[in-house]
Amino acid sequence: MITSERATFGSKFGAILATAGSAVGLGNIWRFPYMLGANGGAAFLLIYLICVVLLGLPVMISEFYIGKHTHRNAVGAFKEMAPGTKWSLIGYNGVIAAFLILGFYAVVSGWTIEYIIQAFSGTLHGKDAASFQADFEMFSSSTVRPIIWTIAFILLTHVIIISGVKDGIERASKVMMPALFLILIVLCIRSVTLPGAEKGLEFFFNPDFSKITSSVVLSAMGQTFFSLSIGMGCLITYASYFNKTTNIQNTALQVTALDTLVSVLAGVMIFPAVFCFGITPTAGPELVFITLPNVFEQLPLGWLWSVVFFILLALAALTSTISLHEVATAYTHEEFKISRTKAAWLVSAGVMVLGIVSSLSFGVLKDFTIGGLTFFSLLDYVTAKIMLPLGGMFICIYVGYRVDRKILKAELTNEGTLPFYFFNTYAFFMKYIAPIAIAMIFLNELGLINKIVNFFQ
Ligand code: PFF
Repeated sequence: MITSERATFGSKFGAILATAGSAVGLGNIWRFPYMLGANGGAAFLLIYLICVVLLGLPVMISEFYIGKHTHRNAVGAFKEMAPGTKWSLIGYNGVIAAFLILGFYAVVSGWTIEYIIQAFSGTLHGKDAASFQADFEMFSSSTVRPIIWTIAFILLTHVIIISGVKDGIERASKVMMPALFLILIVLCIRSVTLPGAEKGLEFFFNPDFSKITSSVVLSAMGQTFFSLSIGMGCLITYASYFNKTTNIQNTALQVTALDTLVSVLAGVMIFPAVFCFGITPTAGPELVFITLPNVFEQLPLGWLWSVVFFILLALAALTSTISLHEVATAYTHEEFKISRTKAAWLVSAGVMVLGIVSSLSFGVLKDFTIGGLTFFSLLDYVTAKIMLPLGGMFICIYVGYRVDRKILKAELTNEGTLPFYFFNTYAFFMKYIAPIAIAMIFLNELGLINKIVNFFQ
């Protein structure tokens, strides 16, 4: 039986690190600042933080419950808990989302390799802000190099995936998390001491409430799901490798706190520099790549800082691509009963195709748009703003309404050996607050809430 031979993480600490490794990634350092920059600044931060508490924590705990309880992949878990029902669609939604996210995430991960090489070779040195921007645009819109790095990154992920859960995922996470943290702090200090840093800090921390629109709220919700790796069964899959004594509540709290802290540090690192160097905060996906090299220029031994930073960013991306790949590989391996290696190859090959098209959508396929979005942006939009929140909503509905409270509590307290002081609050949030809030954000974005309000006026 596949379930009985399943691997587990080597230690509790390993489980936390691997899960944090999945959560902390490009979503924090690349996507969060550019989403915030494009969606009104500090107002976005405020809504993001509210979403993390109201939606992120309940969904994360629920995913952990499902994975630890069933020891199955995202689809298998629902098949086991609710056989013969449509609930397994939640799992399929997650597996497809993982696949699509990898299709654009691998491209940005590939960019980090280019920057490691440029930092090493000194080509990042001695330019002004305008040339950093022009050079990034030239690189990202070219045909061959970004594709080579995208494929290289997918292959790197592939190698770790086939070397197994404990040796691969856990070991990689253990090394990079503390190092990443340290370098972020150094860069934050440099950034806030740049001339004119106050403007950036004000943009990041002082909310202008008039900037809050339905699309800002939807973007902040999407960012919450994306950054915490929730809504798509990734944490179901990881929790299936937890051992009996893993403390779900603490793991969820620690991972959420760490992930949020890294995003806030990323903001403190980026925005003072954005304003100091006259870059527009709404620059989009290139924001981090055109801002940070300017900061490195201001540091003694700048090239060394930039080499170390981009290596760490690549590693942070890697622990996330591993988790995305794992969702699709665990599903293919267990549900189609093919070897793990074969399953991993199928996933890698599919992702390479998506990655190539995503990469080209910055260059030769720039004008090929669907609903006004390039292929890259479309993958991002459909997954982060639609599939993950929908997945999260149904996960809450499933756990809130279909799972016996006693079984749920027993699993979350390791058979009553741990206290869970906030169990009723968690249950209330998961049953009512999270699903209703997600549904309202969707309806609001579609303009339906306005129509309903107008109807009654
Ligand atoms: N949370 C990752 C990041 O912030 O970079 C991205 C991600 C990983 C999203 C795994 C979803 C997922 F299942």
